[in-house]
Amino acid sequence: MGSPYRKMSSVLSLCRCRVDGCQLVHWEMMRRHWLLVGACGWVLLLLMVASRFINYNLRVPDDYGGKAESRTWTELSINTVKPQRPILHPNNMSQSNVGVFSTVPSDWHSVEERRLDLLASVCRNSSLRNVTHTSVNKFVLDRIFVCDKHKILFCQTPKVGNTQWKKVLIVLNGKFSKVEDIPEDMVHDHEKNGLPRLSSLKENEIRERLDNYFKFFIVRDPFERIISAFKDKFVKNPRFEPWYKHDIAPAIIRKYRKIHRDPDDSSSHKAPGLRFEDFVRYLGDIPGQKRLNRQFGQHVIHWITYVELCAPCDITYNVVGHHETLDRDAPYILKAAGIEHLVSYPTIPPGITRYNRTKVENYFSEISKRDIGRLYERFQGDFRLFGYPRPDFLLD
Ligand SMILES: *[C@@H]1O[C@H](CO)[C@@H](O)[C@H](O)[C@H]1NC(C)=O
Ligand SMILES: *[C@@H]1O[C@H](CO)[C@@H](O)[C@H](O)[C@H]1NC(C)=O
Ligand SMILES: *[C@@H]1O[C@H](CO)[C@@H](O)[C@H](O)[C@H]1NC(C)=O
Ligand SMILES: *[C@@H]1O[C@H](CO)[C@@H](O)[C@H](O)[C@H]1NC(C)=O
Repeated sequence: MGSPYRKMSSVLSLCRCRVDGCQLVHWEMMRRHWLLVGACGWVLLLLMVASRFINYNLRVPDDYGGKAESRTWTELSINTVKPQRPILHPNNMSQSNVGVFSTVPSDWHSVEERRLDLLASVCRNSSLRNVTHTSVNKFVLDRIFVCDKHKILFCQTPKVGNTQWKKVLIVLNGKFSKVEDIPEDMVHDHEKNGLPRLSSLKENEIRERLDNYFKFFIVRDPFERIISAFKDKFVKNPRFEPWYKHDIAPAIIRKYRKIHRDPDDSSSHKAPGLRFEDFVRYLGDIPGQKRLNRQFGQHVIHWITYVELCAPCDITYNVVGHHETLDRDAPYILKAAGIEHLVSYPTIPPGITRYNRTKVENYFSEISKRDIGRLYERFQGDFRLFGYPRPDFLLD
């Protein structure tokens, strides 16, 4: 314990300690240095806000086996945060007063319960059946990851910080002892990373896990999710995934771009390649999309519905986290799964996961109401099941 103690001797080194992932800070030590902790927290808050950078890296204590008294940074800071009022509408969350060390408010459980009640009641609505139900097929079982050691199933949905959850589960499964040890290319290599897909098991093993394990997944506002997928796959594409630009985009353009438009195309300020309006038209064309999606294969996971990805009406999940409230949902999930003493989710800078109506309005500003209406129809199940309000400001 000598070295961590020395590291606590100044605020600066304390911050470095945290950023480096120095995990185990003894409770007694923390009590004596709570002032420094607070100061460090605010320094971090300012840095995070300034850089607008999401540090999703999960911190896992180096030695988490049976260290009941050790606390991670986030957990300790829990005590200083005032509980938030539960609000149901995920798009109406005022997060501006949520501190960097926010965590599960005492009444958050009732928010989560109401989400599950809503989900169950929309699932039961027979007139919505075709947009809320799907069969638990191989495609769905491919999306679900298995942590046998702690009896957890996690359905992966894109663009909500899922890589971090996968890293947590990989560590919990024991292949790596901490998150930092997992090579980046290993996170998605499920042959080697010790985080099997549910589809890799036998039928009776699958059934047993679906019946008995803790199951969760994360969702976000469907239209923001579409925008995020579009930006990531067709505009920025930070990872090298050439098929989005070279195969998928041209196929969508061929089928969905209106020919007699944009006479000034060549001198246009618009970027070449897939436009958001092409993408929206493709997504809103339910039968046409089915044909194209077969051709696109697994890549479509980035924009098909949560219903198709995780079968939320056909598998009884224990928690559905919302990206917009991830700062409260993440610690809640860890607690509900019984792993909160083993891992913690990194602090999320306030506002970074908040729904941004201006952004949504900007993206849809040049898209016809008819096409937006069709897109809404396509994602209606996701809106209804997870309590996201119909975007009247775009549709009416
Ligand atoms: C958001 O919530 C606040 C407080 O609950 C409420 O007064 C307001 O009308 C809501 N806004 C919308 C757009 O639902
Ligand atoms: C079921 O969904 C339909 C179509 O959106 C809606 O009109 C109806 O009110 C819903 N029924 C219940 C019981 O919620
Ligand atoms: C669901 O059914 C309605 C009519 O019953 C249809 O208009 C709609 O396109 C269907 N949605 C999907 C996703 O198949
Ligand atoms: C919301 O999006 C708009 C347009 O993209 C952007 O200018 C603005 O800074 C965003 N607001 C927040 C709070 O992130």
